[in-house]
Amino acid sequence: MSRLTQFLLLPNATALTIAAVSSIIEATPLVVTLQDHYEPNPYTYINSLPVVGSIPNVDLYAGSEVHVLDDAPAHPDLRILSTVVEFAYQIVADKRKGILQPSDLRGKRIGVVGNVTSEYFGYRFLREVVGLNSSEYTFVRNGALCYALPCGNGTYPAMLASGEVDALTVFEPTTTVGGMAIGDENAIYFRNDTLYRKLNVLYTTKDRLENATSRAEIVGFLRALGKTQEMFTKEPEKAWPRVANITATGSTVNVATEEVMRRFWPLTKWGRGLPADMADLMAEEDKWVAMRDPRGRTPMSRETIQGLVDDGPLREALALDAQA
Ligand SMILES: *[C@@H]1O[C@H](CO)[C@@H](O)[C@H](O)[C@H]1NC(C)=O
Ligand SMILES: *[C@@H]1O[C@H](CO)[C@@H](O)[C@H](O)[C@H]1NC(C)=O
Ligand SMILES: *[C@@H]1O[C@H](CO)[C@@H](O)[C@H](O)[C@H]1NC(C)=O
Ligand SMILES: *[C@@H]1O[C@H](CO)[C@@H](O)[C@H](O)[C@H]1NC(C)=O
Ligand SMILES: *[C@@H]1O[C@H](CO)[C@@H](O)[C@H](O)[C@H]1NC(C)=O
Ligand SMILES: *[C@@H]1O[C@H](CO)[C@@H](O)[C@H](O)[C@H]1NC(C)=O
Repeated sequence: MSRLTQFLLLPNATALTIAAVSSIIEATPLVVTLQDHYEPNPYTYINSLPVVGSIPNVDLYAGSEVHVLDDAPAHPDLRILSTVVEFAYQIVADKRKGILQPSDLRGKRIGVVGNVTSEYFGYRFLREVVGLNSSEYTFVRNGALCYALPCGNGTYPAMLASGEVDALTVFEPTTTVGGMAIGDENAIYFRNDTLYRKLNVLYTTKDRLENATSRAEIVGFLRALGKTQEMFTKEPEKAWPRVANITATGSTVNVATEEVMRRFWPLTKWGRGLPADMADLMAEEDKWVAMRDPRGRTPMSRETIQGLVDDGPLREALALDAQA
């Protein structure tokens, strides 16, 4: 999936510039935060996830940890500040293909989004839960996302329904919608949250944190984000129409229904934090990222990855929240 999903306008010098891909569920609290809790401060929102430092004046990027692993070797000044959401993956498979347990995935065709967290989860699950090497299954990477039925030709749910693939593990809610496309009686789901979960994180660069003006804006944004994450956690039915609207605006995905939201929401954990196992999870994943890097590189060590994490701004935000 391309990192630059649309033509980029260089941001104006506003108080805060944030980059994330809004068609992805994980980015939606950032947009809600800017709309609900950040005005009247001027801000710029870039609907894309550029490589760190490739366009000027970006204060915050939000994306999954795999993008951090892609960027960090060339940008050791990258700093991870907080999670936006922790997102569990699931596989949906079609029982009519004889898939009743994970071992039945041997020899099957499985839809994934290539080279990112989706393919990584599939690889880990098939390797560690089922014990398969990569020649014992086929990943199909050319589908499109779809957030509600009906799903058009070329989308992953349509590929599952037509039998072109036997199973899916793609970005939610597309996996969930895949199960709906074949019918609950035919769908079986596999999960393993201890194996891997996607960490969607906010990150910046060291120079933004050393600039007192931008650091204050970043801390203010972390405080505002906390309010949105609380709403997403405690009043999800208020969040769902916003999430559906934001993901569908200016993208090819359709508007997710409340039923779709209700089904996949238990996979999500919205909240600020820096999980204790973050560096371990990322160091394990970087073996895969480094192996696939066309330029070739050695995996980053756990210590190198831990060095990318700066808990200072989040601690400042939490301290200010406690005083308020
Ligand atoms: C993968 O597993 C199959 C079946 O056990 C084996 O024949 C094949 O050599 C393995 N391939 C690799 C690349 O390890
Ligand atoms: C999808 O493909 C089928 C079979 O090729 C065709 O009959 C149908 O009209 C297509 N649907 C859409 C929405 O393109
Ligand atoms: C989930 O993955 C972990 C780590 O590989 C493994 O120890 C555990 O047995 C798996 N659980 C299931 C239910 O497969
Ligand atoms: C700090 O960041 C602000 C806001 O982006 C910018 O206007 C200012 O020039 C920066 N200061 C330094 C010393 O770079
Ligand atoms: C999102 O909401 C705005 C404002 O209510 C509306 O104009 C727009 O059509 C909605 N977009 C989608 C894709 O639902
Ligand atoms: C995905 O990774 C493979 C293996 O490293 C590489 O050959 C391919 O070009 C990558 N595709 C994209 C779209 O980055």
